[in-house]
Amino acid sequence: MAAQTSSIPTGSLSSVDVTATAFKADPFPHYAHLRAEAPVLPVTVPRMGQAWLVTRYDDVGAVLKDQRLAKNQREALTPAQLTKVATMPRMFAPLERGLLNLDGADHDRLRALAHRAFTPRRIEQMRDQAQVLADQLVDAAERKGSTDLIADYALPLPLVLIGRILGVPERDNPRFSAWSRTLIGAASRRNPLTAVPSVLRFLRYLRALIAERAARPRDDLISAMVAAREQDDRLSADEVLAMVVLLLTAGHETTVNLIASGVLALLEHPDQLARLRDEPALLGPGIEELVRFVVPAEQATQRYAREDVTIAGVTVPQGSLVLAVLASANRDGRFFDDPDTLDVARANNRHLSFGQGMHYCLGAPLARLEGQTAIGALLRRAPGLRLAVAPRELRWRGSIILRGLEALPVRLS
Ligand code: HEM
Repeated sequence: MAAQTSSIPTGSLSSVDVTATAFKADPFPHYAHLRAEAPVLPVTVPRMGQAWLVTRYDDVGAVLKDQRLAKNQREALTPAQLTKVATMPRMFAPLERGLLNLDGADHDRLRALAHRAFTPRRIEQMRDQAQVLADQLVDAAERKGSTDLIADYALPLPLVLIGRILGVPERDNPRFSAWSRTLIGAASRRNPLTAVPSVLRFLRYLRALIAERAARPRDDLISAMVAAREQDDRLSADEVLAMVVLLLTAGHETTVNLIASGVLALLEHPDQLARLRDEPALLGPGIEELVRFVVPAEQATQRYAREDVTIAGVTVPQGSLVLAVLASANRDGRFFDDPDTLDVARANNRHLSFGQGMHYCLGAPLARLEGQTAIGALLRRAPGLRLAVAPRELRWRGSIILRGLEALPVRLS
């Protein structure tokens, strides 16, 4: 069944700022209009310029798999177009070798090597640790009475876990967390240059850690990445560094958003919260439904047209930036029954929140584990969980790709 829409002119649809705080609070009616009336629409995105929004489920899936759309901007733009693109300072150049900036054989080689180290089995071994950590954080939050679920719970949990997975020594945790937060927040600062000294110190630290693990391997992810071999091929130190930084950036705010927006969605749907609490077997499908419903990454990352590409009858010119709107695909009534309903028992949930195709989220098993342990612990431990402020006081972050709250003040009892 298709979403109900009223007829409004395409011009006003394209003038909406999809990165604005107010828009982020409830972007779904707007995307329903786009799916019905302008499923491939050029818009102006602050700090990105012109972008084409693609909003229907099947088109979004096709965009994510389309080889004519490059992740590496340099492969899609002509030399003349490239002269207008800002270049990355040399000291950060290795970071351009991250999976999300590469295509084809370059990408597949790095992904295969990383995947060998980042297996579902290795992730599953973290479950008990994640549980203990979640319980410790609930204990601390209980002592405080009222707490910001983002700062005190959703932020530290994935950061401590990824630090352990990578093999960061426990004694370095405070500076690892502080540096990681600077790195993750750098792009959204008003002046990203202010983060440079701190980011450089962090990169120096990580390079030293990678060298140390290469010399004296341990049972951790950095050692596994350094050792991962595919016949005669292996990752260079720069490639391991790029991978570590990508795991931190791609895996952090997304998971924070899943935990915090997921808890908010449950508080707004008390029947679903009660069902999830009463039927622990629903935790798996319930978290999957929250991933669909709250959609921690509203859009997939950037893709650039290598040539003119026609999508749903609309020609997107060569060199254009294309944004596949995951938040819209997940609410497409052609693919989901009652798409705007939160249903923790939803079956056959083929949401696109983790993407699709060759760039499908490498960290999906970890994200699921973190969502299940973090939200599961709150449901078990905090029967009185409720918002500590009026819903209208909640603010969403003004962001391009991601969708998440600034803070989530709650009371646990
Ligand atoms: C709920 C949490 C998460 C969500 C919603 C999410 C979402 C996504 C999406 C949509 C993509 C594809 C982007 C595209 O095609 O443009 C992606 C890729 C990726 N994600 Fe996640 N992610 C999450 C958690 C994580 C975690 C915990 C990690 C690792 C620690 C991680 C690591 C990655 C990596 C490395 C890629 C790039 C894969 C590639 O290019 O081959 N993600 N993620």
